[in-house]
Amino acid sequence: MKILITGGGGFVGARLARTLLARNELNGQTITTLVLADQVAPPADLLADTRVQARTGALLAQCEAFSTEPFDGVFHLASAVSGECELDFDLGMRSNLDSTRTLLDALRRAAQSSGKPSRLVFSSSVAVFGPDASAPLPGLVADDTLPAPQTSYGVQKLICEHLGADYTRKGFIDGRAARLMTVTVRPGRPNGAASSFFSGIIREPLAGVESVCPVHDQVSHPVSSPARAVEGLIAVYEASRSLWRPPRPEPARTQRARVRHAGGAARGGWQRGARSGAF
Ligand SMILES: NC(=O)c1ccc[n+]([C@@H]2O[C@H](COP(=O)([O-])OP(=O)(O)OC[C@H]3O[C@@H](n4cnc5c(N)ncnc54)[C@H](O)[C@@H]3O)[C@@H](O)[C@H]2O)c1
Repeated sequence: MKILITGGGGFVGARLARTLLARNELNGQTITTLVLADQVAPPADLLADTRVQARTGALLAQCEAFSTEPFDGVFHLASAVSGECELDFDLGMRSNLDSTRTLLDALRRAAQSSGKPSRLVFSSSVAVFGPDASAPLPGLVADDTLPAPQTSYGVQKLICEHLGADYTRKGFIDGRAARLMTVTVRPGRPNGAASSFFSGIIREPLAGVESVCPVHDQVSHPVSSPARAVEGLIAVYEASRSLWRPPRPEPARTQRARVRHAGGAARGGWQRGARSGAF
């Protein structure tokens, strides 16, 4: 099978690529080709694998070619991160929203030619939850909690979830979205994510470097290890549609708040934490 990872040169994307190559199969099928599309080249160990092809450049510019290159599976991870999107609105709209729509359209055209829609996992974020002070989060945040993003990044992620759901409803792709928690510890230098300090407060002291925690020490926030994040993305890919939790009966008031997205978000909720979704 042929797999595409957008953002395949990034923190999570490169780890996902290594895990898939080590497994050599996904959903019971042998992986023959793994295409890593990113504006930066993937790490050397990945490039050395004969199953890997690197496509280096902005995703928007690569999508036209993807429309004539059918993929069995796509992990769509390429994204400008939260802090970058706040600093540069146009970057976020281009890298996150425009690129995702163009990718979905390319996959749609590829499916029309091949007759087989690609299965796509979109890496969304807990940033879709805000939280909005006027709509407090419940004790347990789950798939059916009302998203209320408070950042451009969170809004872009939520729009893309809905786009994925509609392309799936129309049969253009088989889409799913996973709302990732903050993945920590991220090695190397801090990145432009507002949540970057969640890695910094662990990584820097281990290297003997001071790190300032910008939030109160009682703040709680959902985090996952890189290995668990990758495991979750693969589980979301491999889950059959029938495994997604069926809607439970709800009172009318809650029904209004119900949000449908690409087959459901990451399984399991996360415990409510102070301002956690804002990152
Ligand atoms: N790491 C986290 O804590 C976390 C939390 C929630 C959601 N996510 C999501 O998971 C995904 C992966 O996150 P990550 O931590 O690996 O981020 P990352 O920044 O390390 O990797 C993202 C990659 O996307 C590439 N990219 C960005 N814009 C691009 C464009 N326009 N064209 C081509 N490539 C582009 C970057 O070069 C980078 O290599 C992202 O979608 C992110 O929003 C991550």
